[in-house]
Amino acid sequence: MPPVLPPWVSDPAGPAAREIVPVYWIMFAAAVVVLVIVYGAIFYAGIKYRERPGVEAKQFHGHNLLELLWTVIPTIMVISFSILSFQKLLILNDVDTGADMTIKVTARQWSFTFEYPKEYKGVSFVLRDQSALKIGEELHIPVGTKVKLEMRANDVIHSFSIPNLGGKMDVIPGRPTYLAIQADRAGTFKGQCFEFCGDGHADMLLRVVAHPTSEYAAWAKTAVDAANLPLDPATARGRELYMAQACVGCHLIRNTPSNGRVGPELTKIGSKANIAGVLSPVNVDNLTRWIMDPGVVKPGTAMPDLNLDEPTARAIAQWLSTLR
Ligand code: CUA
Repeated sequence: MPPVLPPWVSDPAGPAAREIVPVYWIMFAAAVVVLVIVYGAIFYAGIKYRERPGVEAKQFHGHNLLELLWTVIPTIMVISFSILSFQKLLILNDVDTGADMTIKVTARQWSFTFEYPKEYKGVSFVLRDQSALKIGEELHIPVGTKVKLEMRANDVIHSFSIPNLGGKMDVIPGRPTYLAIQADRAGTFKGQCFEFCGDGHADMLLRVVAHPTSEYAAWAKTAVDAANLPLDPATARGRELYMAQACVGCHLIRNTPSNGRVGPELTKIGSKANIAGVLSPVNVDNLTRWIMDPGVVKPGTAMPDLNLDEPTARAIAQWLSTLR
């Protein structure tokens, strides 16, 4: 279906979206009726009562009944819409009733990050370093579960919305805001930041992936395992060194604090075919060489030579080679 209607009307996928659909149609219908009546009256009066030879335009300035009607009718309409909207807002703003999972959302220029509870109905989200699973861009929820989002912004005002699920809430610095989301069916639902927040606003995208309840634990295990990979104690030293270097400002490694967007993503560098398109295979020796002498391996590369000593470069290479 062409995107004539907003997604929460054409394809509502959660209770919040379904709550809003009737409001949308009632207001739309009222707007059409008002349009027809007002324009109908204007054209009718304009033609029937216009001034022309032999007819003098009828004056009705100060017509009490008319004045009363076009004051009272719009007032009743606006009050009815307000009551209707307010009722729905009470439902949508109740993020607590029936919510049995809380996920913390952090918005910053220009991405969303989601931190899971340490435990949810027997599903563990605890990582090797005892922190809770924290992943950017994609939010995974079980179908049919009301999930409360506790949202904070690190820098400027953002806005969180998944149109098919309904509801929208500003994410502001200084104090948390809350939104409840729930999906009726499994699937992937697109969302984005809805408040202009700088250059990267249009790219501040997110996805909500709703899993059937029976498959949620399996997903959680995969996600925890993936997030544990970069936390392997055997390569902890290399990870620490990497995190202490300028590397983090340029490269993205998912599930870690390294969230730069300037250079290539390194999340699965260990399973790539080559390094920077020129050096293969991807192993500790080649990674070390690349880190120590990028300009020699690939003249003109944007990757800077950080002047690291060999043991440091090798430790970092060892860690990177485990990212698969
Ligand atoms: Cu964040 Cu727009």
